[in-house]
Amino acid sequence: MKERSSTNAPTSQTDGSQRTMSKTVIHTSNVKKVYTMGTNKVFALRGVDLTVTAGEMIAVMGSSGSGKSTLMNILGCLDVPTEGSYELDGIRVDGLNRNQLADLRNQKLGFIFQGFNLLSRTSALDNVELPLLYDRSGRKMDTRALATASLQRVGLGDRLDHQPSELSGGQQQRVAIARALVTQPTLLLADEPTGNLDSHMTVEVMALFQELNEQGITVLIVTHEPDVARYAKRIVEVRDGRILRDHPVADRRRAADDLATLNAAGPEPDAAAIEEAA
Ligand SMILES: Nc1ncnc2c1ncn2[C@@H]1O[C@H](COP(=O)(O)OP(=O)(O)OP(=O)(O)O)[C@@H](O)[C@H]1O
Ligand SMILES: [Mg+2]
Repeated sequence: MKERSSTNAPTSQTDGSQRTMSKTVIHTSNVKKVYTMGTNKVFALRGVDLTVTAGEMIAVMGSSGSGKSTLMNILGCLDVPTEGSYELDGIRVDGLNRNQLADLRNQKLGFIFQGFNLLSRTSALDNVELPLLYDRSGRKMDTRALATASLQRVGLGDRLDHQPSELSGGQQQRVAIARALVTQPTLLLADEPTGNLDSHMTVEVMALFQELNEQGITVLIVTHEPDVARYAKRIVEVRDGRILRDHPVADRRRAADDLATLNAAGPEPDAAAIEEAA
């Protein structure tokens, strides 16, 4: 894997009145993905050009089958493009083998899925520690301490020994976010992270994503929900395997403010019951 400086050179970006230097985290050029099903070909991506700089928070939207997950899988180095190039944090991804892709994922990326994907009958702490046990860099680390710190970061320092079934949906998703964060990724990729959550938990999780983004982590979220997309800074709309529109969010909302409003209106009964049982 070679670091390439061409697209990874800091680029000037206007941020209000301040000029800040931002690094290119994602750069795709004419990315295509064709799935061959027997004699049929599915053109899932038909040429995607996308550039994402450090510190962005992006919502990827589009109807079912438009290619969002296919794009996420490629950006997340879980799959490779049929055609086109992809650079992640200055590293050319297309053409890497499976082991190289796995190492790159472990070093640079954190994944969050709709269904949380936590191991059941396994504590929050053990779930979060897991990615560190797959680290092949040879670094010496105190994996317990790092996992504990990651859970504290998402506000679950008092739930280390809870198994997924002993946590609310929002808390389970926060464990999954802690697991994604524990390797200190450059980029968080989330595919419908609020799809299984009620509206209160959705705002809670989005407040956490915004907080992490403010701390400097680049965040890319696939969502169907316009209410979720309004917490992002930029919306990329995909249709038929192409980027149809790409625009900043004009009326961006702060999830922490929305959460405060919701909490002032009183806790939800199911959340209170779970708190009681814990
Ligand atoms: N592994 C696969 N093999 C064959 N075809 C696939 C595969 N994965 C996705 N497709 C097809 O590629 C197209 C894009 O699928 P994709 O999963 O990216 O859509 P999506 O935008 O994520 O949809 P949804 O909102 O329903 O999750 C669809 O037509 C789908 O049927
Ligand atoms: Mg999908």
